[in-house]
Amino acid sequence: MAELMVSKIENNRELTLALKIRRLVFIDEQDVPEAEEIDRFDAVPAVVKDCIHVLAWLDSEPIATGRLLIDEPPSELAHIGRVAVLAEHRGTGVGRALMTALHDEARSLGRPGTTLAAQLHAVPFYERLGYIARGEVFLDAGIDHRWMDLNFR
Ligand code: COA
Repeated sequence: MAELMVSKIENNRELTLALKIRRLVFIDEQDVPEAEEIDRFDAVPAVVKDCIHVLAWLDSEPIATGRLLIDEPPSELAHIGRVAVLAEHRGTGVGRALMTALHDEARSLGRPGTTLAAQLHAVPFYERLGYIARGEVFLDAGIDHRWMDLNFR
C-alpha cells in the first residue's frame, strides 16, 4: 500500500514542488491571480525564517502542501495558509494529515494554537479538525472566506 508522509520543506527543490501544486490548485483551478498567490513567504527557505512550508508525499509523489507563518509574536496564534491537496487525492485523509503536521510545527514552537482564513467551501473541513469560525464572511482573491481559530488548550 502507498505510504503517506508529510515533511518540512528544507530546500529550493522541494519548495518548487510545493509551488507547482499551489499553481495547479489556486491559479489553474480556482483562478486566483498569480500576483496574489505568491508572496515574500515563498522565497528560498534559506532566507525566509518566519515561514514553515510542508509537503505531503504519497510514496515519492508530492501531492499536497501548506504553510505556517510565524512572523507574529510567539504568544499569538500561528497563521496557516495555502493548504492545497491535488484534486485527484482529495477525500482520502491527505488534508487532515497535512494539517496535523502544521499543528505539530506550531505546537513545537510553543504557539497556543493556529488561525486561518478558510475558503467558505472548506469551513466544514476545518470544523472537523476542531476549528471555530469567527466574524463575517469576507472576499479575498474573489473567493468568500471566514476566519477560523484552533486553540490547542
Ligand atoms: N466539506 C465537508 N467535509 C469535508 C470537506 C468539505 N469540502 N473536505 C473534507 N471534508 C472532511 C472529510 O470528509 C473528512 O472527514 P472525516 O475525518 O470525518 O472522515 C475530513 O474533512 C478530512 O478530509 P480530508 O480527506 O483529509 O480532506 P482533503 O484531503 O480532501 O483536503 C481540502 C481538504 C480543503 C484541503 C482540499 O479539498 C483542497 O485542497 N481543496 C482545494 C484548495 C482549497 O480550497 N484549500 C483550502 C483553502 S482555505
